[in-house]
Amino acid sequence: MKRLVILISTFLIASCCAEKPAPDLAIVPNPVSMVGGGKGVVLKEGAEPAVKTRIDKKLAEEEYVLDTRCGKVKITAGSEAGIFRGRQTLLQIVSQVREAGAGRIPGVLIKDKPAFAYRGAHLDCCRHFFTVDEVKRYIDLIAMHKINVFHWHLTDDQGWRAEIKSYPKLTEIGSVRAETIIGHQSQKDPKYDGTPHGGFYTQEEMRDVVKYAAERYITVIPEIEMPGHACAALASYPELGCRGADYPYKVETRWGIFPEVLCAGNPETVVFLEKVLDEICDIFPSEYIHIGGDEAPRSEWEKCPKCQALMKEKGYTREAELQSYLITTVEKYLAEKGRKIIGWDEILEGGVSQSATVMSWRGAKGGIAAAKMGNDVIMTPNSHFYLDYYQTADPAGNGEPLGIGRHLPLSKCYSFDPFDQLDESEKSHIKGIQANLWAEYIATFDHIEHMALPRMAALAEVAWSNENRTSYEDFVKRIETALLPIYESRGYNYSTYAFEGIE
Ligand code: ACM
Ligand code: ZN
Repeated sequence: MKRLVILISTFLIASCCAEKPAPDLAIVPNPVSMVGGGKGVVLKEGAEPAVKTRIDKKLAEEEYVLDTRCGKVKITAGSEAGIFRGRQTLLQIVSQVREAGAGRIPGVLIKDKPAFAYRGAHLDCCRHFFTVDEVKRYIDLIAMHKINVFHWHLTDDQGWRAEIKSYPKLTEIGSVRAETIIGHQSQKDPKYDGTPHGGFYTQEEMRDVVKYAAERYITVIPEIEMPGHACAALASYPELGCRGADYPYKVETRWGIFPEVLCAGNPETVVFLEKVLDEICDIFPSEYIHIGGDEAPRSEWEKCPKCQALMKEKGYTREAELQSYLITTVEKYLAEKGRKIIGWDEILEGGVSQSATVMSWRGAKGGIAAAKMGNDVIMTPNSHFYLDYYQTADPAGNGEPLGIGRHLPLSKCYSFDPFDQLDESEKSHIKGIQANLWAEYIATFDHIEHMALPRMAALAEVAWSNENRTSYEDFVKRIETALLPIYESRGYNYSTYAFEGIE
């Protein structure tokens, strides 16, 4: 009798979980594998399915298995982060089942894990300020795409946004600009809006954002720009610039690249950077701190007696070595605190230590060069992942809001090959992929959403799925089925060009 019961129950389990072809479910990013089978799970009106979760240490940290074959939803993962990623997949399944008016989640076994450990999304809160609630909305938006790093751009020429208690003028003075240029920086006769723009995050608010992100298994990497993009810092503490304390530095009101940079030859600059980073490290527990390093003209250093004296003392022959001196000094300081640096690809100029991670933004070439030198790399090429670029070739004709220029349709984002031109050993240095959202021309969070979606889905699929990507046509269909119901229910202002076939 006992044997008969075992036999019958084994038969029942086997038949309920018998493997069938994958049901017609769409998931973005595309999972490693999906097979159908079993009776699925009843989905009651207005109620979420009860989910049984289990940690299995044999799985990698973010790896998960989602099983709906036997009447219950089960998620097994290598850690709570993996459970959270699996829940994002379940959210897509539930949304599309409801959208289709069906009452049952099909039976499916999904096995999934990320291609890249670092999947980043950046947000510029300097050119335009976004509130803590908007930043959290951005974190929710990226979390649903299985992104695990939020790169928070906190300091720039047009505004310093992070409260630093030892340098209070950074936010008293540096967080407000007098007005903002209207239109494009190439305009011959620039027009200004005559309105001050400002805002900053208190340390308590930044801690709150870190916690909010951590609850979604997202690490916040703060960026403190040096030695360029420093006009707001210099307006606050002019003694840190090559032109000295009497020079009327101002928080910039235009967009662009400005010659005013931190004085590399002034020892107070290093004191300033270290004290700022002390407080930043206190707020942000991330292993990596982004130290900027991009677009720092050296014309002021060429003329500055302090910078020239330091070059002589160190035996430098090129001003680029001053940049390298500042970056490596800061890198050593952060290393004592157990932190590592990431910098934009300009940090390669003048020499960079092997332990620095290079963020390749001027196309992929900086990243390729860095990987060949043995440095770790995050690929965020403007050619494929600058989400402030226009989404169609005819922005005016297609009613796109005014933007910074250039053209980056969804299909181009999707086509990125992270390993192009790299051999096997070099490939191992590509640690991640990131999309950047600069906000010179993006004054509202509504516009941020329009630029981010659906291109964030392409970032997600390159960074999570990479070799498991499908055709572009299939990808667009999967976005429509799996993501649009969620975008709609959350009220995201996503763009529709790609769904209308407009590039
Ligand atoms: C950058 O876009 N200047 C990193
Ligand atoms: Zn100087």
